[in-house]
Amino acid sequence: MAAAWSPPIGAPTPSLAARGHREKCACWPAQPAFPAAALDFRRLPDIFRAVPYSATFGCFDGGAGSWPVTQPIYRSPNGGLLEVVHDIEALRDRSGAEWRAVFDTRYRTSAWPYGSGVWGKREWVMPSVPDELIVSMYEGGTNLFWAERYGKTLGLSDLWVKLCGNSHSGSFKDLGMTVLVSVVNMAVHQGLRIKAVGCASTGDTSAALAAYGAAAGLPVVVLLPRGKISVAQLVQPLAHGALVLGLDTDFDGCMAIVQRLAEEGIIYLANSMNPLRIEGQKTVAVEIVQQFNWKAPDWVILPSGNLGNAWALFRGFDLMLKLGVIERMPRLVMAQAEHANPLYLAWQAGKSAVDPVQARPTQASAIQIGNPVSAPRALRALLEMKGVVEQASEQELCDAAARADRTGLYTCPHTAVALVALEKLVARGTIQPHERVVVVSTANGLKFTEFKVRYHESSIDSVTSNHKNPPVMLDADLGQVVDAITRRFA
Ligand SMILES: Cc1ncc(COP(=O)(O)O)c(C=O)c1O
Repeated sequence: MAAAWSPPIGAPTPSLAARGHREKCACWPAQPAFPAAALDFRRLPDIFRAVPYSATFGCFDGGAGSWPVTQPIYRSPNGGLLEVVHDIEALRDRSGAEWRAVFDTRYRTSAWPYGSGVWGKREWVMPSVPDELIVSMYEGGTNLFWAERYGKTLGLSDLWVKLCGNSHSGSFKDLGMTVLVSVVNMAVHQGLRIKAVGCASTGDTSAALAAYGAAAGLPVVVLLPRGKISVAQLVQPLAHGALVLGLDTDFDGCMAIVQRLAEEGIIYLANSMNPLRIEGQKTVAVEIVQQFNWKAPDWVILPSGNLGNAWALFRGFDLMLKLGVIERMPRLVMAQAEHANPLYLAWQAGKSAVDPVQARPTQASAIQIGNPVSAPRALRALLEMKGVVEQASEQELCDAAARADRTGLYTCPHTAVALVALEKLVARGTIQPHERVVVVSTANGLKFTEFKVRYHESSIDSVTSNHKNPPVMLDADLGQVVDAITRRFA
């Protein structure tokens, strides 16, 4: 069963020193130097031939064509989205039980790169990247929080929050960025010349790209909608040395420009339109199931903006089904902010395509997206996972975040959008009290301090802070302190 190239399960090979490309791993032939000018992707020696698993780019819509994952392409010849295509038959060389055992043995070990939640599943993600070219910061392996108190308020006993924001750059974007940057790193080692890796961002993609780019020593440029991201999100790429361009537009405006830059070959595109990102992000589905001892939950709820993560989630569950790791597909809820709700509108109208909208400012700033690039992917995920789309108003999301925080969570505004969707679906009876529900928390609340400060000081426009808890300012006087404690806890 075990493929020849795999290290013994759980064995600490290759050594940790392989990190940072300093040591060659014995499994891999040395890299020849390729003159960039003469680069021809079809003629590159495939250093991964020895590997029984393979992944290439193909067309999302099933069209003809196959391209190496190291090739800087972002659209199929007919202009559609691309997809990473795995050799499913080769992956069937292990049974579902054997894959589960392999992944369990690797989970959060210190054996490079297998302790990463993404690279521990490397055969399913990107089998072709040699150890010494992987750019990983031990992403994934995030805690799955049993939201007991919050669940009780809704009559749910099996409510969980997958805290993807407890990660290196503070959001789920690390899961995909480690894959994308590793493949770029490999391509550059094979001779690909790029000026910079770039993205448009609502703040989290740019933070992750800047971090992984810095770890790999790759130049990074990020296009941000000026004044529309949090201070923490702005500081992250600055700290990592990226070229930060604040444009006088929204995310959709930045995305249009970055696509032009990619088309012109000026940057390598790191947005989730690039399916390499999706491959890493899909491991969250595998990890959730693994954390439940390989049982799929009934529902997964996801805050959604550019709509790539829903497709990633589906791909993870779908692969597990195909390989016999799970027996059934959970249902999907995609949650949008009412101020940026093109998918919700399409869903309500029963449309088979998503019309762009002009996204309005929302506290859930990372999903303030009106023209989602991955709309076709999301629609397919909804179909395959018997999905539902919900939306949250500004008032609803602000209060949901505050209520969840009161039960020990520290909720980013996007996660709050997902919580509102949960509350609505429970109230409507779509989600039943006995069902196991996982809310995917996509970012760390600490990145959104201004949101929380403004809520607790009641300064968010058109929102009443129903659960505010402002600080009590006192003189340095024992009597006043005792009075304050007595007033609160009497
Ligand atoms: C915190 C956060 N939540 C949710 C999303 C939405 O993910 P997607 O764009 O894949 O729908 C994003 C990014 O867009 C994000 O940064």
